Amino acid sequence: MMILKTPEELAIMDRANALLHETLRLVASAAKPGVSTKELDRIAEEHICSRGGKPAFLGYRGYPATLCTSANDVIVHGIPSPSQLLREGDILGVDCGVILDGFVGDAAVTLAIGEVPAEAARLMRVTKECLDLAVDFVRPGQRLTDIGETIQAHAEGAGFSVVRELVGHGIGRAMHEDPQVFNYGPGGRGPELRPGLVLAIEPMVNAGKAGVSFDDDGWTARTEDGKLSAHFEYSVAVTENGPWVLGVGGR
Ligand code: MF3
Ligand code: CO
Repeated sequence: MMILKTPEELAIMDRANALLHETLRLVASAAKPGVSTKELDRIAEEHICSRGGKPAFLGYRGYPATLCTSANDVIVHGIPSPSQLLREGDILGVDCGVILDGFVGDAAVTLAIGEVPAEAARLMRVTKECLDLAVDFVRPGQRLTDIGETIQAHAEGAGFSVVRELVGHGIGRAMHEDPQVFNYGPGGRGPELRPGLVLAIEPMVNAGKAGVSFDDDGWTARTEDGKLSAHFEYSVAVTENGPWVLGVGGR
């Protein structure tokens, strides 16, 4: 069941996501060679709590941290660790969730640690472009799977592949609401988008093949072929006037 939000509720979700993006910027400025992923997690947790928010991932189905920190071949859900130090040339997915006044914000970026190889930078750029292209489809009357078709076309057009096993989602008072937001087509299917629906859109793009393997920790998802993967995510509201990327200004 899709839950539509009132304008007042969307305003709260915008504030939750604003705190989240502020947190991601803090983490980005601290993410340098030699810093541990646990230190980034500590910075995020402290900032969210200092502003009256709550980390949404911490304790979710037993997840042990505020951030997911996913380096290089890790696609998503990497667990921060004091023994994992960032290295020059790494790419690091940072995914964060914030609960504020009863609503959840969910967003992610992939960061370059120092100078990264050109192909890694291209993977990051194309994945962000996939998200930005997808956002344009978040408008009334558009069909749900048009989002995934756009993401797949752009990623594969660049010679990359999209992950099938993990998807985006509706979001509101719960982190995961209907509908599932696939990162692949075909388009023209699924429900029509309606004002008040909020979608967490999160393309996961692999440099090599699309296959995923899961670590024994039950969380860490990595590429089967060991090649790089990138991930970007926004929480986006459908409005009469088109997409509203929550927490980053705009419409
Ligand atoms: N953005 C991810 C998701 O929507 C983050 C969840 S991590 C978890 O599924 F630990 F909270 F599950
Ligand atoms: Co999400």
